[in-house]
Amino acid sequence: MLCLGIFLLVGLSAVHSQFPRVCTTEASFRTKSCCPLWKDRSPCGSRSGRGRCQDLVALRGNSIPQIDDDRLDWPRHYYDNVCECSGNFSGYDCGSCKYGYFGEKCDRKKIVIRREIRELSFLEQKRFFSYLALTKTTKCKDFVILSTGDRHHRDTYRFVDASLYDMFAWLHYYSMKPIMINSTFDPNKNFAHQGPAFPGWHRLLLAFLERQIQQLTGDEDFAIPYYDWRGEENCTICTNDLMGESDAHGILNPYSHFSYWRTICSGFNYPDTYCPAADSEIWMERLHRKPGATPYAPKPPTFQDVEDTLKLRDLDRPPFDETAIRSFRNALEGFLSPTDGVTLKRSMHNLVHIFLGGTMSQIPISSNDPIFLLHHSFIDKIFEAWLARYNGSPNSYPENNEVGQGPNDCATPFFPCQRNKDLIRKSTEFGYRYSSYHNKKPQQ
Ligand SMILES: *[C@@H]1O[C@H](CO)[C@@H](O)[C@H](O)[C@H]1NC(C)=O
Ligand SMILES: *[C@@H]1O[C@H](CO)[C@@H](O)[C@H](O)[C@H]1NC(C)=O
Ligand SMILES: *[C@@H]1O[C@H](CO)[C@@H](O)[C@H](O)[C@H]1NC(C)=O
Repeated sequence: MLCLGIFLLVGLSAVHSQFPRVCTTEASFRTKSCCPLWKDRSPCGSRSGRGRCQDLVALRGNSIPQIDDDRLDWPRHYYDNVCECSGNFSGYDCGSCKYGYFGEKCDRKKIVIRREIRELSFLEQKRFFSYLALTKTTKCKDFVILSTGDRHHRDTYRFVDASLYDMFAWLHYYSMKPIMINSTFDPNKNFAHQGPAFPGWHRLLLAFLERQIQQLTGDEDFAIPYYDWRGEENCTICTNDLMGESDAHGILNPYSHFSYWRTICSGFNYPDTYCPAADSEIWMERLHRKPGATPYAPKPPTFQDVEDTLKLRDLDRPPFDETAIRSFRNALEGFLSPTDGVTLKRSMHNLVHIFLGGTMSQIPISSNDPIFLLHHSFIDKIFEAWLARYNGSPNSYPENNEVGQGPNDCATPFFPCQRNKDLIRKSTEFGYRYSSYHNKKPQQ
């Protein structure tokens, strides 16, 4: 973990974001343009037909007058022009391939299989943990994080490097930073949760890391494993061989893989918004976990809870927030009881976060704990089951007024632009599918 201290500079500030490194020049911000030259020396590789520099001015996302937030109508606060890639090309400069495509011409399609972590062989498990260690110690090549005191003055922008894993953790954190509405922070609004963007946004987040790991290691077969928590009485993958044991204080066992991982909170010395734990005995600089310790979340959801969630046909329903009833998204995200589809209570995704406790129970910083990956991979598997059952498509995505969650809004803060509605597609279109896995059978 030594490298971390070297490249994680401290940035105390009001705003952070991820940016393509090449678009962080003074000229890029002055012209509000992020259309880098590709190898053929044309912007977005246009001369080679890879893409073109797109003018975003005409394409507006959800706009809400009382909100002054650099993430709204992403990425328009920073850039009016970004690359739009054609065919199988993708990336902020159209220099890489869409998820699921490989090769210089991006004409080689490949579908990897995400498997339950206990389905992996001993060697595959070891490989997974060594890849994660690599992501935590390797500088993210293509992206940097904006760290500045004043997002309205571009001459004060400052950028810091982060490790690949921390960039991943940061993307999630950034989407959840509170939004100032009418001069007060509204904790119930953010760009990736409590609204219809939730399943697609998290799908994109995982696909981002999966692809980055494939590129970093040259292992095109790499797929993020999942944790099928249905019917578990306790966290049976929280062993030192797998995700790590923790003690009564939530401290990970020193012989486990992640015991020395530091969180972005310490790395970026973020102002006290989330990092100091609700539980004051916990020092959140290191990962903490306390499976089963929260009285109202003694175990993960059941087989039946997952079945009941999948009975909800509508992706989301008005008012498209954490109070929506009969909404698949709200049940999956876990503000709604799947049992009756109308009672508002912690369930599914939220319940697992709370069940695992510690870092995972504070959702904004939860992505620091790699068990987040396994949990979200399983949430995404349930989303995939919903897509298959109801033939879900971009048309399933509702019109709504949630900030950053309109069907045509670009998912914040990703490059290139990926519209929320376009994330409602089968996983094979993103280059992966799920194994069928049978955890313990449900009783009776
Ligand atoms: C995308 O890749 C597929 C191969 O999987 C190929 O058939 C197709 O022609 C490619 N599309 C473009 C526009 O290059
Ligand atoms: C902000 O306040 C105004 C006036 O009180 C109100 O009409 C408006 O709905 C509020 N905006 C939001 C987004 O809550
Ligand atoms: C966890 O649950 C398994 C059965 O699912 C049980 O055998 C084991 O003793 C439990 N471990 C703890 C620490 O409670």
